[in-house]
Amino acid sequence: MGEGKKQVGVLGLGRMGAALAGALLGAGHDVVVWNRSPLKAGPLVDRGARLAATPAEAASADVVLSCLSTYDIQQPVLEAASPKVLVNLTSGTPAEARSAAAWASSAGIDYVDGVIMAVPQGIGTAQSRILYGGSPTAFSAQREVLSVLGEPVFLGEDAGLAALYDLALLGIMWSTMAGYLQALALVGTEGVAPAAFTPMALSWLSAVGGFLPGIGAQVASGEYATDVSALDINAAGLGLLVETSRAQGIDASVPAAVRELFDRAVASGHGAHAIASVIEEIR
Ligand SMILES: NC(=O)c1ccc[n+]([C@@H]2O[C@H](COP(=O)([O-])OP(=O)(O)OC[C@H]3O[C@@H](n4cnc5c(N)ncnc54)[C@H](OP(=O)(O)O)[C@@H]3O)[C@@H](O)[C@H]2O)c1
Repeated sequence: MGEGKKQVGVLGLGRMGAALAGALLGAGHDVVVWNRSPLKAGPLVDRGARLAATPAEAASADVVLSCLSTYDIQQPVLEAASPKVLVNLTSGTPAEARSAAAWASSAGIDYVDGVIMAVPQGIGTAQSRILYGGSPTAFSAQREVLSVLGEPVFLGEDAGLAALYDLALLGIMWSTMAGYLQALALVGTEGVAPAAFTPMALSWLSAVGGFLPGIGAQVASGEYATDVSALDINAAGLGLLVETSRAQGIDASVPAAVRELFDRAVASGHGAHAIASVIEEIR
């Protein structure tokens, strides 16, 4: 272990936990790992990690990262571990994160809640960003270690905010993927292969991304006037997509759900407004 390197405990060696431990080993940290199924630690032990027999043994480290399937599964492990400083990287809801933070506070544990905006293969690369909330002192003290895993972004003292950002960002991803799959199915009805369509989808997505700051500014101001494209025209367009999807023999539930939402916003009086006005209906 080199100068400035820490002892880091990692609880959970699933796909993500193993990637976290691997990146920490690669950066020269002294890593002690625990997993319910100890056999999974083999490749990490070969690279210099120590295998702890119990969560408590791993939790004697300077800082402990936890990455298990769910908060419910994680809680008994954390109670058995009782670390000094805990960075929880298990995904959950803001309420679960706040409840874990309250438990940690009552147990005298310095707590940071994080969400990983990357896949295991991206950990330790420029493609990885991890959002954190919770104890600012613990975050600052562990910033160097956390930087090994991905770009660390601290959102503030609310331990639930990272989970809220996580779900908000994943929501964008899931909606986009559902839209893309709908598109592939639609053009596929006429024999267009994904490889032929995807380059056009990518450049279109980049153009659509360019609309986001303007939509965000309208949402922030509550001013929905537009000289670009009114909601009623978009709702009508969605109607065409639903009709064509059905006519081509494919499922239309994704565009139909968006159309139903847009139609309600039109019925509420936003037909001449910009798409941003749909937020009034969502709220
Ligand atoms: N994979 C991703 O792309 C990704 C991205 C961002 C965030 N995350 C989050 O990271 C967390 C872990 O995901 P993962 O992909 O690593 O999942 P995974 O490969 O399924 O690993 C699950 C981990 O939880 C442990 N576990 C499950 N049930 C347990 C129990 N009853 N008692 C003790 N340990 C138990 C497993 O231990 P065993 O090995 O003994 O089964 C394993 O260490 C999740 O909250 C996930 O949402 C994952």
